[in-house]
Amino acid sequence: MAEATTQQTIEAPFVLPNGTALDNRLVKSALSEQLGTLRNAPTEKLERLYRAWSHGGFGLVITGNVMVDRRALGEPRNVVVEDERDLPALKRWAAASKESGSNHTWVQINHPGRQSPRILSPRPVAPSEVALKISGQFGRPRALTAAEIEEIIERFARTAEIVVGAGFDGVQIHSAHGYLSSQFLSPITNQRDDEWGGDPERRMRFLLELVRRIRARIGTSAGLGVKLNSADFQRGGFTEEESMGVVDALSREGIDLLEISGGTYERAAMMGGAGARQRESTKQREAYFLEYAERVRERATMPLMLTGGLRSRAAMDEALHTGAVDLIGLGRPACLEPDLAGRLVRGESAAALPTRELRLGIKQIDDLGELTWHTTQLWRLGRGKPAASDRHPVVGVAEYLAATVHGGVIRQALRPPRY
Ligand SMILES: Cc1cc2nc3c(=O)[nH]c(=O)nc-3n(C[C@H](O)[C@H](O)[C@H](O)COP(=O)(O)O)c2cc1C
Repeated sequence: MAEATTQQTIEAPFVLPNGTALDNRLVKSALSEQLGTLRNAPTEKLERLYRAWSHGGFGLVITGNVMVDRRALGEPRNVVVEDERDLPALKRWAAASKESGSNHTWVQINHPGRQSPRILSPRPVAPSEVALKISGQFGRPRALTAAEIEEIIERFARTAEIVVGAGFDGVQIHSAHGYLSSQFLSPITNQRDDEWGGDPERRMRFLLELVRRIRARIGTSAGLGVKLNSADFQRGGFTEEESMGVVDALSREGIDLLEISGGTYERAAMMGGAGARQRESTKQREAYFLEYAERVRERATMPLMLTGGLRSRAAMDEALHTGAVDLIGLGRPACLEPDLAGRLVRGESAAALPTRELRLGIKQIDDLGELTWHTTQLWRLGRGKPAASDRHPVVGVAEYLAATVHGGVIRQALRPPRY
């Protein structure tokens, strides 16, 4: 159990079970930067961006998702760590992200499973052959063999070992937002009837094996966290009740931090889309998943982090005061104001800048606009420029699509390895 503290406000320090002492309760949540090379190595732009966050006053910084297999990318310029070929660049990234000496940095590690765009993976792999219902962009997946599943678990462990060896303080397993680990958890995407599916116990086995295998490789002094969906907000999908079973199992494993989120590409609740803002009380408290966190708190033994929708210091303090969560995750605000955490903690700011949202009422375009606009802000920070919060959303979509399609086409030309 995490060390109890009576002073539950954002500036209070906090000690994680692995002994990591955080300066405060604010965490930069994972934001996929897409700032790797087309051969998926870390770059100077990535270093520049993380230097800004290191000086930004966060207790903990969690990187955007780093992939464990170059055959399975979420985006063309993801960083991939599957061996030590980019170790010097990884070490530079780790050093940059801890330059201020006041924050810890964890690497989020991920495999997209079926959520790998067609331009990168015409035939991605997944627990079962269930395609995403986003027309055209994603290929129909092939079901993984049991041997391939074992191999992927080994990849996560190896990636974790390498990044910790490079100087990062820990890892977070991405088991939310419809990526491979969350595909295993959902009865919609996991229709297997072997040791990896068929009932809730077997569906959560992939995640638990990841936790065990990674812990065995990184030891107990490095941090190990999990980002988990409260639900995927789809009929017949991963329910809140099933997620509570996963929380119980993770409590028994003894992880250092559980981050609560929700949604998938098909139902983007993690960013305030479907399912997240149904109740008036949720709106008042800002946080999309706070009520769920309160229920998790009743049974979980590990520290909890809540991400999604929190903008004002008052709402962050309230979420901490209730005792439901220990840490506050900030995603989109960190794209606009990398130094936001420090200003909130010092009382120089009462809230994050309102983010500019593209809301045309067309779900897919709106979700894409939200992601692309923020991604292009990260690219500006990576070039050493300030974010441009007044930028028109359509400019963000256009820049993003041009760069991503271009990157995808070049990757095709490079003949990347495929499953
Ligand atoms: C551009 C962008 C990239 C993201 N990339 C990731 C990611 O790599 N991994 C992840 O777990 N969540 C990712 N997210 C989700 C955020 O971590 C966070 O859960 C979400 O934005 C809600 O928090 P917020 O309301 O503070 O933005 C991303 C969000 C945005 C806007």
